[in-house]
Amino acid sequence: MTGKEKAGQEYAEALQNVTRRCERLVQILSILREMDQLDDPLKGLKSVCCRIVEAIASSLAAENCSLFLLNDSKCEVQLRATCSPLEDRARYFEPDAWPAGKFKLGEGIAGSVAQTCTPLCVADSSLDTRFVALNQTAVAPRSLLCFPLMVEGRLVGVLNLSHSSPGFFTAESEHTLSFVADRAARMLANHLLHERVRQSEEYYRLILETAADAVLVLDKEGHVTSANPAVENILGIPPQDCVANRTTWAACVHPEDVAPFRQHLEQVIAEKLPATLQYRCIDIRGNVHALEQRGCPLFDSQGEVQGVVCIARDVSERKLAEEELLQAQKMECVGRLAGGIAHDFNNLLTIISGYGEVLHAHLEGMPEALGRLHYIEEAAERAGQLVKQLLAFSRKQVLQPKVIDLNLSLKDTTKMLRRVMGDDVQLVTHFCEDPARILIDPVHLTQVLMNLTVNARDAMEAGGVLKLETYLAEVGETYPGRPESCNPGRYARIAVQDMGCGMSQETQARIFEPFFTTKLNGTGTGLGLPTVRGIVNQNGGFITVESELGRGSTFSAYFPLVKEKAETAAAPPSMAALRGSETVLVVEDERAVRHLIVQMLTRQGFNVLEAASAEAAAALEKNHAEPIHLLLADFLMPHMNGHQLALQLCRNRPQLKVLIMSGYAGHSIADQALRESGYELVQKPFTSPELIRRIREILDGP
Ligand SMILES: Nc1ncnc2c1ncn2[C@@H]1O[C@H](COP(=O)(O)OP(=O)(O)OP(=O)(O)O)[C@@H](O)[C@H]1O
Ligand SMILES: [Mg+2]
Repeated sequence: MTGKEKAGQEYAEALQNVTRRCERLVQILSILREMDQLDDPLKGLKSVCCRIVEAIASSLAAENCSLFLLNDSKCEVQLRATCSPLEDRARYFEPDAWPAGKFKLGEGIAGSVAQTCTPLCVADSSLDTRFVALNQTAVAPRSLLCFPLMVEGRLVGVLNLSHSSPGFFTAESEHTLSFVADRAARMLANHLLHERVRQSEEYYRLILETAADAVLVLDKEGHVTSANPAVENILGIPPQDCVANRTTWAACVHPEDVAPFRQHLEQVIAEKLPATLQYRCIDIRGNVHALEQRGCPLFDSQGEVQGVVCIARDVSERKLAEEELLQAQKMECVGRLAGGIAHDFNNLLTIISGYGEVLHAHLEGMPEALGRLHYIEEAAERAGQLVKQLLAFSRKQVLQPKVIDLNLSLKDTTKMLRRVMGDDVQLVTHFCEDPARILIDPVHLTQVLMNLTVNARDAMEAGGVLKLETYLAEVGETYPGRPESCNPGRYARIAVQDMGCGMSQETQARIFEPFFTTKLNGTGTGLGLPTVRGIVNQNGGFITVESELGRGSTFSAYFPLVKEKAETAAAPPSMAALRGSETVLVVEDERAVRHLIVQMLTRQGFNVLEAASAEAAAALEKNHAEPIHLLLADFLMPHMNGHQLALQLCRNRPQLKVLIMSGYAGHSIADQALRESGYELVQKPFTSPELIRRIREILDGP
């Protein structure tokens, strides 16, 4: 070769070299330009991964380019995107979507590169034992170029290029890839970070949006800067409105709790520590909510407090339940106390009023003495009412419920109520047209009416109109005042409306508390309304109150309607018609009461046997050959109660009829058995006509 030729060849080679370098530079530049277009944090990780493999595969003429990313545990790389000439577009895989596309560090070609963090060029994969084909069906790649993706010494993932011809990738390919890999690694690291932030934001957003507690961010002035949807459940105001009108939350704080609320915020800000506060808020409808709030300081990047994060829980229902429990415990206490004394007390009252009655005959023609006796009887009567009130309130009364038509009963009762009302109160009644049948002990109904009307009268010091009305009410799920324990359905409503002094919110909150009264000088016991509520609840109903200070009050008692026909009460027969000649065995351990009963019965012509204990009665019965028609026994006696005695005597005398006297119904098992036995009961204290009437009914009955 001449010198000229040689020079020409050298020139051609140099030119070729420069051209190749230029081409490579253009190649690198074009990939980088494509990547730069991708470097937008708003583009998702998916599109970034796909575009990287597409760009690299096409520029390096590889038949496949796969991108593996290091997973969170940093112990394996996972295939996340791949691109081959057989497919139009790159394919993306969600994490863990393809279990076969995973390599532990050190496993396979990708795992080895991930472990050593150095590129690996394999000229013929069939000769390399590390090679594991990802796709068994496709033509196995022969040339591989696998490159670690690193950012500041940290592994992000691995890029793997392959080709079906052996020895396809050269040092130049590796050189080109080194440029591109660096850029790709940074972009991926950025996107992964964005992705993590986005996921974490999504996670916390979900927590905030589904939380039942209100979560608010307040600035140092107490202005709302952020609020979650639960805020609306408390205030009834959408969260965006709370943020737009920044003072909404603070403005809804109950006026009495504004100062503690402010102090709470100031404390959290000053001490830079979380704190807890209980306070009240008033919602858009005017309802008060009891809240329990945890306030935590919110710091800026300099560590200064920039506001307070408040997590507020509505504890209104819990508070209500706590109050109800307390109330129930109080009632239980009073009930136990009342039950404890009722038996003895009723015995005493039976003696007082019974002998009062007996004395009448002796004092005939002595008006002065009769007048004094009248006072004694009146006091005994009032004392009896008081015990009844206590027992009704504590639900220990002996009950004799029956189906009554409320309208008919009220028409009867209004005569008595008019007397109680006095002259300056005008009683106006209005009864619904359809019958309002309810199941109730008539004594209970009278107690409800008496208490409500006397309260109404007392509220109208200067007199006025008292309305007593009945309605049939369709009580639905959302009926105001319906407690959970009362099923929706048809109810009879008794409304007692006055034009009196009305009640403040504070008074209304306490009226059902036992012993709460605003009546001075011992004129009120404060047991009226608790008794009414006790009775109403016991009969499956509920009570509501509407009242405004100075504008009167309306109390409504609801009782469930029943379908059965009302039992009509026949006019009570006179004492003369109530005489008898049957034999009655009277068993009562209290001497004075026993004597009184014996007198009452003998006066009416009955043949009376008496016993001071159950044992004595049993012995008497054994030795008495004649018939005994009725056993009249006290329930509570030592050794053996009246119920047990009745069971024993009835075994010998199946025809024997039984009437048990009782002062109260406690909750004992013996009581339950008595109620289930079907024996008739008479409640102490009773008057002579009451007792004789019951005895006659039983003797004349089936
Ligand atoms: N119709 C009403 N108008 C205004 N206040 C009422 C009315 N009814 C009840 N109250 C208030 O509720 C309180 C409690 O009533 P409740 O019937 O339980 O007891 P009381 O009437 O004070 O005593 P008692 O019933 O033993 O005479 C009353 O003291 C009164 O303050
Ligand atoms: Mg009262």
